[in-house]
Amino acid sequence: MISVRNLTKRYAGHTAVDDISFEVDRGEIVGFLGPNGAGKSTTMRILTCFLSATRGTASVGGFDVFKDSIEVRKRIGYMPENVPLYDDMRVKEYLHFRAQLKGLRGRSARHATGEAMDTCSLQEVRRKMIGTLSKGYRQRVGLADALVNKPDLLILDEPTNGLDPNQIRQVRELIKRLGERHTILISTHILSEVEMTATRVIIIDKGQIKASDTPQNLIRRLHSSGTVHLEVKAAPGQVIEKIESLADVKTAIHISSAQDWASIDIHPCSNVDIREQLFALSREQNWPLRELYRDTASLEDAFVNITGS
Ligand SMILES: Nc1ncnc2c1ncn2[C@@H]1O[C@H](COP(=O)(O)OP(=O)(O)OP(=O)(O)O)[C@@H](O)[C@H]1O
Ligand SMILES: [Mg+2]
Repeated sequence: MISVRNLTKRYAGHTAVDDISFEVDRGEIVGFLGPNGAGKSTTMRILTCFLSATRGTASVGGFDVFKDSIEVRKRIGYMPENVPLYDDMRVKEYLHFRAQLKGLRGRSARHATGEAMDTCSLQEVRRKMIGTLSKGYRQRVGLADALVNKPDLLILDEPTNGLDPNQIRQVRELIKRLGERHTILISTHILSEVEMTATRVIIIDKGQIKASDTPQNLIRRLHSSGTVHLEVKAAPGQVIEKIESLADVKTAIHISSAQDWASIDIHPCSNVDIREQLFALSREQNWPLRELYRDTASLEDAFVNITGS
């Protein structure tokens, strides 16, 4: 669906995108991640024909973004970083206008407008002026605009930027549903969102691609520290002594105590899973046990590890 080859974008004296190549297949939901200034929006603007490149090629659905921009635009729904909307138009009127701009006429334009408003839960505000909408509704209008002509590919640049947690959850569910029918390239700084929706993640940093894999594989690649947290009802000194006598334990640290419950962090030698041994020890010592878990890595850990920030 998307094919990018050796793409470079240089602004006066500064390389924003540095010789990147990647592919996105039909049906994928790809999270495009990277720190501020990494080059995400620049890449997206090139793919959507809003910006020229310094070097390299990019195509969408087999059409070159530089030579066949009309064909490319027909296939893409783009939601830019700062959604430009006409504040003095009503929601329905605006989306109908956008549908017409995208080549839909008469009944099919009206039908597409209605469907996009249904998909993005905009019916209740359809007669409101866009300028009076809350941020969340404005974002939804931007999303409805991107998908009104049912494009094969959606390119969404931080669609949940500035939304509250409830709205983020709603937009995330919406994107998941859209993923059943569209190929999606989405940039965001909310990594839990990507962990839940994306089939693949591309991480870009300083204009270069640092990783491209499923969220699960990126997390798996990280060596989790293997630290285990334990909470037992016993004297901390005695607990530490017993735990440190286990062969696989490097150190045990008393973190805190509250109402006779001691909270302990245990660092194993190498990366052994010592939970079973700790459970056996607690039972043997008759320590009441109320918490025992091992640190797990998240996509956020993978991101920090890869981008080094
Ligand atoms: N029109 C421009 N002129 C000069 N430099 C620019 C221009 N647009 C972007 N840049 C620079 O190019 C780099 C990449 O910017 P870009 O907007 O693509 O980053 P981004 O990954 O989208 O970041 P963010 O997460 O903050 O949105 C940045 O260093 C930015 O300052
Ligand atoms: Mg950006």
